[in-house]
Amino acid sequence: MMLDIRNLTVCYGNNPPSLRDFSLKLNKGEIICLVGESGSGKTTAIRAILGNLPGSGRVTEGEIRFDGNSLLSFTKAQWRNIRGSEISMIFQDSGAMMDPIRTVGNQFKEYIRSHVAVDKKAADYRIKTMLSSVGLADPERVMKSYPFELSGGMKQRVGIAMALTFRPKILLADEPTSALDVTTQAQIVREIMALRKEYDAGIILITHNLALAAYMSDHIMVLKNGRVVDEGNRDHILHSPNDDYTKKLLAAVPSVGGTRYV
Ligand SMILES: Nc1ncnc2c1ncn2[C@@H]1O[C@H](COP(=O)(O)OP(=O)(O)O)[C@@H](O)[C@H]1O
Ligand SMILES: [Mg+2]
Repeated sequence: MMLDIRNLTVCYGNNPPSLRDFSLKLNKGEIICLVGESGSGKTTAIRAILGNLPGSGRVTEGEIRFDGNSLLSFTKAQWRNIRGSEISMIFQDSGAMMDPIRTVGNQFKEYIRSHVAVDKKAADYRIKTMLSSVGLADPERVMKSYPFELSGGMKQRVGIAMALTFRPKILLADEPTSALDVTTQAQIVREIMALRKEYDAGIILITHNLALAAYMSDHIMVLKNGRVVDEGNRDHILHSPNDDYTKKLLAAVPSVGGTRYV
């Protein structure tokens, strides 16, 4: 078991828990999707894994084990060590995370150098390789560009390339395609799915699109108001959901059972 989360509860300030009694087991090469409407606790769950809950967020109960270590007992320095290298995150809008006045290449280089000591040439080579591997045809041009000169899909690919640079064992993806047009979404989804083959990475993907989850995942967890209300494999969720809420999410999906999900 690579990642083993048990009975995790997370609170912000003095509010009632935003995530309650959340348990998840992720193996190598496995894709788990978290689905649920906005505010159901999806982002909270994966940010807890990375040790970077926003604001006043804190884990009040439960345990997170990664490769046998208890992450909740990690120091800040230990977190920094694994973040980006062992566990990394793809955000909904990678462009928004970038500095608008610095080239993509410079930002990527700084990211690499914050993890390993490499000279400029080695870093450049690594960046080019990574950008090509996520389907960016002209990596040199991408590196020289400022974020505003790239399309949303290209920026998202840069974000994915960065997240994969150190071949993380776990990839956390928070609505990685929802800001993109349908064609680009489909391409990025295929690329993320290829990763588990190539790297044997375990992937936790957040989406509010149940059809996308069914298409991609081995295991689906449905969250509502901070609780897991349904979970199971794709067939279970599609054909015999336990919870009324899952049924409603399914009813909102136009083409489940067809060949196109995204
Ligand atoms: N920085 C924050 N400060 C206070 N409450 C937060 C913060 N982030 C999220 N929450 C609360 O936690 C709950 C779950 O939010 P979130 O995990 O972002 O849901 P989702 O990703 O499913 O949309 C929401 O009720 C939200 O109000
Ligand atoms: Mg969210």
